Amino acid sequence: MANDYSIVIFFVLCTALQAYGQSFNCTQAGRFANPTDTTCQNYTYCIYNAATNTFTSYNYVCPTTSVFNPATGMCTAPSNYACTVTTTVPTTSAPTTTAAPTTTAVPTTTVAADACTADGFVADPSSTDCSSYIQCVQINGTFDETTLTCPNGTYYNPNNTFCESTYVCTSATTTTITTSAPTTETTAAPTTVAPFSCTAIGRFANPADTTCQTYYYCVQTTTGTFAQYQYTCPSTSVFSPTTNLCTANYVCPTTAG
Ligand SMILES: *[C@@H]1O[C@H](CO)[C@@H](O)[C@H](O)[C@H]1NC(C)=O
Ligand SMILES: *[C@@H]1O[C@H](CO)[C@@H](O)[C@H](O)[C@H]1NC(C)=O
Ligand SMILES: *[C@@H]1O[C@H](CO)[C@@H](O)[C@H](O)[C@H]1NC(C)=O
Ligand SMILES: *[C@@H]1O[C@H](CO)[C@@H](O)[C@H](O)[C@H]1NC(C)=O
Ligand SMILES: *[C@@H]1O[C@H](CO)[C@@H](O)[C@H](O)[C@H]1NC(C)=O
Repeated sequence: MANDYSIVIFFVLCTALQAYGQSFNCTQAGRFANPTDTTCQNYTYCIYNAATNTFTSYNYVCPTTSVFNPATGMCTAPSNYACTVTTTVPTTSAPTTTAAPTTTAVPTTTVAADACTADGFVADPSSTDCSSYIQCVQINGTFDETTLTCPNGTYYNPNNTFCESTYVCTSATTTTITTSAPTTETTAAPTTVAPFSCTAIGRFANPADTTCQTYYYCVQTTTGTFAQYQYTCPSTSVFSPTTNLCTANYVCPTTAG
């Protein structure tokens, strides 16, 4: 049958593309370096599809001169991460139960206002349905902001920066106070979060955080209410309430003494 034939051709093509070796074999959700990419500029974004119990991989290229740091799962300036990939064999990972669909380029557009405060990913303030997000890479003091679109049927979860089919976009509800999610690794956010309530769009210091490391990001929803997300400034930087940015130049006025 002609139908069977085209399916066979499809899978042969898929296999051929995977064998090409540019992509990382997805066995968990997240962003991973391509093991054979000696430029460190390409990375694979693995998205879990709960309906089919499979992973879909997407290939991305870090913007301009930035490189992918596998430890943080982010693109960063080359001065922040030394690319040392030779052509080593990746650590043996158990083969997945199901064949992952082939890589697809996710459409990207470059818009975005000043959403970025650090390397990484932030919610797209103009996307009220959580279908897109912004990749931030700081290069020579300037942020390269790229708007990325989540694959169809997945939504950007600011908690873990992943597009998830199970994520419910908080557009209809009032506020979502994110009390330092118990993620496995990433950042260690100081807890003790006092009620903070967004009253305007933007980033605001967390009044309960005497270390100045966390801040709130307030996004207005379609219904006019605010969704609020808590973020932690990267590494040793702190949130400056005057510039509303994470910076190494701000001295946190600790109220401990
Ligand atoms: C990915 O999986 C395919 C099929 O199991 C395998 O041939 C290939 O070597 C794997 N690639 C990597 C980088 O692990
Ligand atoms: C990186 O990705 C681009 C676009 O998909 C591709 O053309 C290029 O060959 C990749 N480079 C490496 C080293 O895998
Ligand atoms: C960043 O600055 C360095 C040194 O001034 C320069 O060599 C490099 O081209 C700059 N990179 C970009 C992307 O502008
Ligand atoms: C995404 O879903 C929408 C609505 O279900 C559909 O119209 C569109 O064609 C889909 N796009 C892709 C790339 O599958
Ligand atoms: C973030 O994670 C926390 C803890 O798991 C959860 O209570 C909260 O609802 C999540 N927020 C969003 C916006 O997903």
